[in-house]
This record gives sequence, C-alpha cells and structure tokens, in this order.
Amino acid sequence: MHLVFLGPPGSGKGTQAKALADKLKIAHISTGDVLRNEIKMATELGLLAKSFMDMGELVPDDLMLKMIKDILQKKPDGFIFDGFPRTAAQAEGLENLLNELGKQIDAVIYLTAKDEDLLKRLQGRYYCADCDLDYNINTRPPKMAGICDSCGEKLRQRSDDTDEVILHRLDVYRERTKPVEEFYRLRGLLKEIDGSQPPDRVTSLVMGAVG
Ligand code: AP5
Repeated sequence: MHLVFLGPPGSGKGTQAKALADKLKIAHISTGDVLRNEIKMATELGLLAKSFMDMGELVPDDLMLKMIKDILQKKPDGFIFDGFPRTAAQAEGLENLLNELGKQIDAVIYLTAKDEDLLKRLQGRYYCADCDLDYNINTRPPKMAGICDSCGEKLRQRSDDTDEVILHRLDVYRERTKPVEEFYRLRGLLKEIDGSQPPDRVTSLVMGAVG
C-alpha cells in the first residue's frame, strides 16, 4: 500500500502515520525526520535544509525530489509518506517518479484541526534527544516537568516549535501546500479526517479510510 499523509503542522501526521505503519507493517517515511537526521549528521543536504527549517520555510523542491528519488530507489514494498509532497511541483514530481516504477498512490489521508489547537499542540511538544521519546505537556506529560521518564535527560523542543515559527509554518502551509489537497481531490484520492479528536479515535478513522 502506498499512502500520503497531508495536513497542517501539528495535525497529527507523524503520530498517525507511525501508528498506521506499525499496523500495516510498511515503511513510515517522514521527510521532516529524514531532514533532521541529515542535520544531525551534518551532511551537505542537512546544512542546506537547516537554514530553511529553522525559519519555517520549505526546503526547495529540487532537493526534496532528489531525496525522494533516492528513497524510492531502495524499493520499499509499501510506504507512508508523512509531510511529502508539500507543493504542487512535489506532487507532480512524485506522480512521475511512481509512474516510472509502475506504482501509484492508493490514498491520501488529509488531517484537519483548528489553528488554535495546532498551536497549542506544537507549543506543548517536547522530546528526549537521548531516547527519542515524544512528550506533550497537554496530553502526554512527563512524570517530572522537563525531564525524560525513561533516562532522566532534560527534554527539548524542536527549533521550529517557537510561536513565531509555528505561525509562519501555518502560513506557508496555506500558501504552498493547500494546492496539494486539490491535486489529490481531483484524482479522487483525498480522504479528509477530523484530526481534532483524541489520537486513538483518529487512528480508527484512518484505519477505516484505508480499508
Ligand atoms: P515536519 O517535521 O514534517 O513538520 P510539520 O509538517 O510542520 O509537522 P509536525 O511534525 O510539526 O506535526 P505533525 O502533523 O506531524 O503532528 P504530530 O503527530 O507530530 O517538517 C519540518 C520542516 O521540514 C518543514 O517546515 C520544512 O522546512 C521541512 N520539510 C519537511 N518536509 C518537506 C517537504 N516535503 N518539502 C519541503 N520542506 C520540507 O503531533 C504534534 C503534537 O500534537 C505532538 O506532541 C502530538 O503528541 C500531539 N497530537 C497529535 N495528535 C493529537 C490529537 N489527536 N490530539 C491531541 N494532541 C495530538
């Protein structure tokens, strides 16, 4: 199965894509995670991407399409793209790459939620850099404020989860990613899901939508 998760920052793409990939036993490919890993490894792509990501801007389409081409060449049997495509040019580029491989997208899960909820979720998001655990002070708080339950390390926030950058990311979504909704709606692939419900309820709706 080949799926795309689409939605504004904080709509739950990562949370739901991970849950579904575990259930379906297919690859979860988060372009944000891939880029953050490139930054951690201080690769050329990582250094370039960091300047865009810290400002809440999109990494240029040519870099993203090259990255996705490399991933697809490893021929994953099934996959969920989380956060890709994010522009009309990326959607067209992905369609061309998949056509060359004789594959196609089966469904696009589009998660929605109100801006005030998105902001609150992202303001509350923390992670442990040592054990990669995610926390949220609203829904999944650590036992001791600011400290990882598992290893006792100090929790961190993503560098693009400041109020100013979150608001800019929401604007960028409206300007650059909204056309991707229409791209997939016209192809009859878009499955719109109310992402404002509790995570387990959203997972059930997503499972129902992909059959
Ligand atoms: P990326 O990492 O993809 O960030 P994003 O799209 O802004 O999305 P987030 O990870 O912030 O949110 P999410 O929707 O995954 O929600 P999550 O499940 O984490 O991209 C970062 C940057 O990389 C971009 O700005 C860009 O610079 C670059 N980039 C990446 N892909 C690119 C591309 N294709 N082209 C160009 N540039 C690209 O949930 C958020 C929080 O809410 C969590 O704490 C979670 O626990 C909580 N939560 C989740 N669901 C619920 C719920 N139902 N109820 C309550 N809380 C919930």
